[in-house]
Amino acid sequence: MCGIIGYVGPRPSQDILLAGLSRLEYRGYDSAGIAVIDGDGGLGMRKRAGKLAVLRDDLASTPLADGTTGIGHTRWATHGGPTDANAHPHLADDDKLAVIHNGIIENFAELKSELVGEGVTFRSETDTEVAAAMIGREYARTGDLVSAFRAVVSRLEGAYTLLAMHEDHPGLVVGARRNSPLVIGLGEGENFLGSDVAAFVEHTRKALAIGQDEIVAITPGGVEVTDFSGAPVEVEAFEVTWDASAAEKGGWSSFMAKEVSEEPEAVANTIRGRIHEGRVEIPELDGMDEFLADIDRILVIACGTAAYAGMVGKYALETWTRVPVDVELAHEFRYRDPVLSPRTLVVSISQSGETMDTLMAVKYARSRGAKTLSICNTQGATIPRESDAIVYTHAGPEVAVASTKAFVAQITALYLLALHVGRVRGAIDPVVAVEAVTELEAVPGKIARVLETEQARIEQLAHWMADTRSVLFLGRNVGYPIALEGALKLKELAYIHAEGFAAGELKHGPIALIEPGQPVFVVVPSPRGSGEMHKKVVSNIEEIRARGARVIAIAEEGDVAVLPAADEVLRIPLAAPMFEPLLAVVPLHIFAMGLAEAKGLDVDQPRNLAKSVTVE
Ligand code: AGP
Repeated sequence: MCGIIGYVGPRPSQDILLAGLSRLEYRGYDSAGIAVIDGDGGLGMRKRAGKLAVLRDDLASTPLADGTTGIGHTRWATHGGPTDANAHPHLADDDKLAVIHNGIIENFAELKSELVGEGVTFRSETDTEVAAAMIGREYARTGDLVSAFRAVVSRLEGAYTLLAMHEDHPGLVVGARRNSPLVIGLGEGENFLGSDVAAFVEHTRKALAIGQDEIVAITPGGVEVTDFSGAPVEVEAFEVTWDASAAEKGGWSSFMAKEVSEEPEAVANTIRGRIHEGRVEIPELDGMDEFLADIDRILVIACGTAAYAGMVGKYALETWTRVPVDVELAHEFRYRDPVLSPRTLVVSISQSGETMDTLMAVKYARSRGAKTLSICNTQGATIPRESDAIVYTHAGPEVAVASTKAFVAQITALYLLALHVGRVRGAIDPVVAVEAVTELEAVPGKIARVLETEQARIEQLAHWMADTRSVLFLGRNVGYPIALEGALKLKELAYIHAEGFAAGELKHGPIALIEPGQPVFVVVPSPRGSGEMHKKVVSNIEEIRARGARVIAIAEEGDVAVLPAADEVLRIPLAAPMFEPLLAVVPLHIFAMGLAEAKGLDVDQPRNLAKSVTVE
């Protein structure tokens, strides 16, 4: 997610802004910029694609006139690639107004066409510049920055944190938040705004949290918070409990811990803007209805964890679109002579969008006449650029090598794709579609509940099992890819042997591995409905318990049949079977992270691994 900082006070703002942005680098970004109202009452701005160092070097060679009012931004590209023009701040009102933004303005297209109709021209592809132009237009009418800001933000839909300042008002920065974070830092004769406290924690630990749909105006001597109608609101003060060094990870012990905690919002942000009145409508697929109605096969290609997301997605795609779906490892697909046609849709899944195995497979598929669609978490990456269509996940930057929040976001994107294509093809019963949408929208809250109720217990279990030499994972149906994902996480984080099996496969060989004390995680299907799979998996558990296995079951709340069978039961909230994978994987991410920590290993940068495998 983007990093945001604002400063008003007696000190030169440029270094404060740059230092604050460097504390926010952990959030991941691909461009950066600052704006300063200088001592002569002019507004100076500099922004550059790339890392902060590029901006610093640019400022060192051609400095901005410094001033004591400023805003700064690190951008994680959403609308428009990572370029100088698309970097923030964006200017308006004859370059006297500067605006920065974190989030996605969902109705920016209609607002932009309204402005273009009034003759406004734009220098970037961003939704942010639309907001800047609207604030500039309003300010030109009233000369009052706060009221102009208020008039505009209430028209914006989606998720945003916005900051603005105008050269007519040195010593004033205004901010607003809707579905996106914004905190206030209270200094002595100076005040700060930040996307999180890391932006200003080196200057003050006194902070105020502002709520949804609220506006804040900071000056060196004061802070005023109102709602979008202008009514003053009470804000909650708090003391920041960790120091600047912890700020690198927003206070978390590791990037992975932070990213596991963000799994609910990764799902919520991937859904955002793609469900309207109970229907899935993916804007990026506009104009593709005819093609999607005509496809006769879907081929999902990916590597590692992304491939397991594809295996989960297969169940939803086939159920809701009635199109045959195959899932293949990209590096295998690339070297065989597959049967493809212009009616084949090849869906690639990649967090980084740079995995060479997947990229080469996409190029190969296109060369063989197939249409390609990229599910990717990185705006402007190579694989989306090489694809005919793109559905971005909005998990935010994933820094830890082990993929967690991107995984649940990928499954979410696949479910949205399945519901979108199913609707276009008339293949899904509208009642079933509405039920699925309701289930999907409930997933973020259910993942949050698993984190709240089970995380401490799972971490304790991991510490007790720190000396384990081997762990097996069993799952059936949509739970099978989750067993594979749980095993991969343990391998890549704790460096121990781990293997995932289809539960039904046990008797066909793997049960020979069971010996007294062998830990086995079992993803248990819901007992509701027919419950046939539930009964089979419980009997699988009994078979391995009879041979001495130590079983840790992941089962839904209220499933009592599993209790006598398992040694430990980790609970997940009730969900329709198709949605259980999104919940069942969370304990496995926590367990793998906990075991690696118990062994004193580097959770974020495991040995031998890279975040993106850019070689074949
Ligand atoms: C997952 O934890 C691993 N880091 C790895 O399997 C990863 O999912 C795989 O390399 C694919 O990466 P991508 O999603 O960036 O293409």
